Amino acid sequence: MKKRILSGMRPTGKLHIGHYVGALENWVKLQEEYESYHLIADYHVLTTNLSTDEIYNNSIEMVIDWLASGLDHLKSPIFRQSQIKEHAELFLIYSMLITTARLERNPTVKEQVRDLNIENVIYGHLGYPVLQAADILLYKGEVVPVGEDQVPHVEITREIARKFNLQYGKVFPEPEPKLTIFSRLSGLDGNAKMSKSLNNTILLSDNSAEVSNKLRKAVTDPQKVRRNDPGRPDVCLVFTYHKKFNPEEINEIETGCRSGNLGCVDCKMKCSAKINSFLSPILEKRKYYENNIQEVKEILNAGEIKAKKVAKETMEEVHEAMKLG
Ligand code: TRP
Repeated sequence: MKKRILSGMRPTGKLHIGHYVGALENWVKLQEEYESYHLIADYHVLTTNLSTDEIYNNSIEMVIDWLASGLDHLKSPIFRQSQIKEHAELFLIYSMLITTARLERNPTVKEQVRDLNIENVIYGHLGYPVLQAADILLYKGEVVPVGEDQVPHVEITREIARKFNLQYGKVFPEPEPKLTIFSRLSGLDGNAKMSKSLNNTILLSDNSAEVSNKLRKAVTDPQKVRRNDPGRPDVCLVFTYHKKFNPEEINEIETGCRSGNLGCVDCKMKCSAKINSFLSPILEKRKYYENNIQEVKEILNAGEIKAKKVAKETMEEVHEAMKLG
């Protein structure tokens, strides 16, 4: 039997190439080998932003990017967390199986609190990994393909599964994270993180003019000022994009940069051409779904019916194990 994957993202709107490289690309590959479930973590958005105005539209935009990137909804259900009440119930039960001290030590939540300048952490934010544990274990996910920052959450998920199984009898697997190899793509400004809030992204929905414009302004080696100055590919952001999107020409680019024969303008043009040819089939599929929103909604509905069935079965086992019948 195929092992089961549960993966998810918070719906923050249109996705960027960092999402693709850090997660989506891996999900698309793994859907052949595993039985995959793809969750839209819409309740998780509330942990750092109480406004719900954008959640629905952002979820639809995200699903379009998932589909355009090659997720196959017929193989792998795509569904919203908020539509499956069992997440909330399992979250409640799990919240009894972990201490507040353990949650306060979680480095990913700590980092979010620091980055977003949060003064007083709400109870639900502290419980972020507990809800994530419910997301994963409701579907008995055994493998969780995520970036490095999510590993602490998966560790907490394992601890909760272990605790539940010891206390009430074995119901849950202890899932393992599966890290993406190329897990982070830096932003156009050189920041280690590509992120919407930093305004340094290339979107999966950007057209070729937008990509070229954005790359034109991307930072390069600050010591390479004039065309013939020798450059240092190892400190150049654009070189990291070449590595990902233009591996065939990587040696040539490196030599050209180091010798000064290849100027940044030309190098960036080569890079945008490669990124554009990578994006072009995605854009095309995206256009199809934008024009057929009804189909996207049906895909979600169908995914939610499938997910609900699994969630219900798991909760029946939970009730039985806990003698809540
Ligand atoms: N925390 C994840 C993120 O920020 C989103 C998420 C929610 C998730 N539930 C999940 C990821 C379950 C994997 C499995 O990207």
